[in-house]
Amino acid sequence: MSQALDAQAAPDAQTLKPLVSVEGVTLQYKTPDHLVTATYRVSFEIFQRERLVLLGPSGCGKSTLLKAIAGFLQPVEGVITLKDRVVSGPGPDRMMVFQEFDQLLPWKSVCANVAYPMLVNGVGKAEANERALEALAKVNLTKFVDAFPHMLSGGMKQRVAIARAMAMKPDVLLMDEPYAALDALTRRKMQDELLQLWEDIGFTLVFVTHSIEEAVVVGSRVVVLSPHPGQVRAELNCHELGFGQRDSVEFGRLTNRISHMLFDGQSIAH
Ligand SMILES: Nc1ncnc2c1ncn2[C@@H]1O[C@H](COP(=O)(O)OP(=O)(O)OP(=O)(O)O)[C@@H](O)[C@H]1O
Ligand SMILES: [Mg+2]
Repeated sequence: MSQALDAQAAPDAQTLKPLVSVEGVTLQYKTPDHLVTATYRVSFEIFQRERLVLLGPSGCGKSTLLKAIAGFLQPVEGVITLKDRVVSGPGPDRMMVFQEFDQLLPWKSVCANVAYPMLVNGVGKAEANERALEALAKVNLTKFVDAFPHMLSGGMKQRVAIARAMAMKPDVLLMDEPYAALDALTRRKMQDELLQLWEDIGFTLVFVTHSIEEAVVVGSRVVVLSPHPGQVRAELNCHELGFGQRDSVEFGRLTNRISHMLFDGQSIAH
């Protein structure tokens, strides 16, 4: 990835207002016999065209945070805003891509899968079809527009899910470990494709992973969370730290630093 790309992604906190603001957010689940605190007073901001990565160990509340930004879950403390409006439920301005390969409708073609959310949200048939084909071209799936999900590889299914989300032109694209179930080579290819797509279209991304390398490849900024219940341990600006190629010295330095933070860090008491 070029330096220019990173420079473009750099938010200027002094002059820009955040697109999404997560302020002191505590998220809990009520089970029949106890209360699970998934995150505790988490705060961070997401700026337009930023690629923000939420990184942390399993169970630290990454998916829960993403679900709260998507509006599926309400904070018990704190507030999440999008464009200064409190997030109180799901909406087409926040599209989500999940880890599972089975997020597509198996009885619909690839093109129909991508068009479906647009049709549900009132876009006309012709326009939905046109936007679906355009989005599928961007993820290199033009040859498969008439195929059905069972005919696709895992990576291809994830591309369809990305195209479906992007075709909606959301304010924020939310991705929850979208490549975790892919083999290493495909995963790397998909990460590069995502960055290329970001360069081509320009969108705001919140990406969840527990892979340090993936966080540094994908993110322009990384929010590191502590183990359960998740709290913000650090925020790292990848471009400021000289982020370059995967095999660069800076990349190694940054991944090592995050690794120490995650594995040697003191637990944060609350
Ligand atoms: N539906 C639920 N009901 C009760 N507890 C839940 C529920 N979903 C998640 N939790 C709990 O909330 C905490 C955070 O879970 P979450 O799935 O957000 O973690 P995560 O960081 O995404 O983990 P992973 O990397 O394994 O996906 C965990 O302790 C989990 O057991
Ligand atoms: Mg998760």
